[in-house]
Amino acid sequence: MTNPQSPLRAAELIIVGSANVDLVVQVERHPRQGETVLGGDTSVFPGGKGANTAVAGAKLGTRTSLLGAVGADAHGELLLTTLADAGVDTTLVSRVDAPSGAAYITVSENGENSIVVSPGANFRVGVADIDRAREAIAAARVLFAVLEVPLPTVREAAACAARAGVRVVLNASPVAPLDDETLAVLDPLIVNQHEARVLLDKADGEADGEADGEVLARGLLALGPRSVVVTLGAAGAVVADAAGAVTLPAPEVDVVDTTGAGDSFAGSLAARLAAGWSLADAARDAVSIAADAVTRRGAQG
Ligand code: RIB
Repeated sequence: MTNPQSPLRAAELIIVGSANVDLVVQVERHPRQGETVLGGDTSVFPGGKGANTAVAGAKLGTRTSLLGAVGADAHGELLLTTLADAGVDTTLVSRVDAPSGAAYITVSENGENSIVVSPGANFRVGVADIDRAREAIAAARVLFAVLEVPLPTVREAAACAARAGVRVVLNASPVAPLDDETLAVLDPLIVNQHEARVLLDKADGEADGEADGEVLARGLLALGPRSVVVTLGAAGAVVADAAGAVTLPAPEVDVVDTTGAGDSFAGSLAARLAAGWSLADAARDAVSIAADAVTRRGAQG
């Protein structure tokens, strides 16, 4: 069942990705394996990497559409309402017979989070949904995907967009192996340092260390994408393409909650690319928007 919101004019930015309800608990520190810790009250926020990215894009004034799925439950209603309120077109969000996606999040005193996602409806987003959205995808400027929906769906979306000459951006989070055909159309592939190490088969913390985002970015570029962005948390981001790699430092801020910072970054970057900005300029702007996002609670705030 598709939802009844009337379509916006053709979307400039189409996000293929997840919508989750985030159940967030503040803790002094994250529990160790087998340990129980007491936390604060539970807060409920709209989230999901796809929805967060879409909201960031729409907030910058880009006509943004989310292609995804929510359950026919109260959480699904909340997610659709908050997306629509933020100006995101939800006509490509199906309501399916599965619980809406949920994320169980603990946030420690230094603002660092740890997240378990129960994908629910998000894993019902299939290749057939991409087929149905073919015309909308071809009319967009940027197709953006995250990996909280099934990989075959993301592959199909990337191929469909690339065939139509639409720029493809992938935030490979949560990280998963990518085939050569998909890698070849990404412009850029976005990952954080941990995800970069997984794609490069390096152990976390191995040799090149914190300062070497540029080494990671160049390594990823050799896997085949047209360009790469590696986010470095408080240290900013690295952008790399055939012309070289550049590090973009982040401003210093008081961190309250890092949840969704990567999505704010990715959504702003995608929106700026859809508006015709260069990758370096788009990433520079996205670094400062993400730095601002970590000063507030919740993934979409
Ligand atoms: O990136 C943050 C997001 O990851 C949260 O909103 C949560 O829903 C998970 O998808």
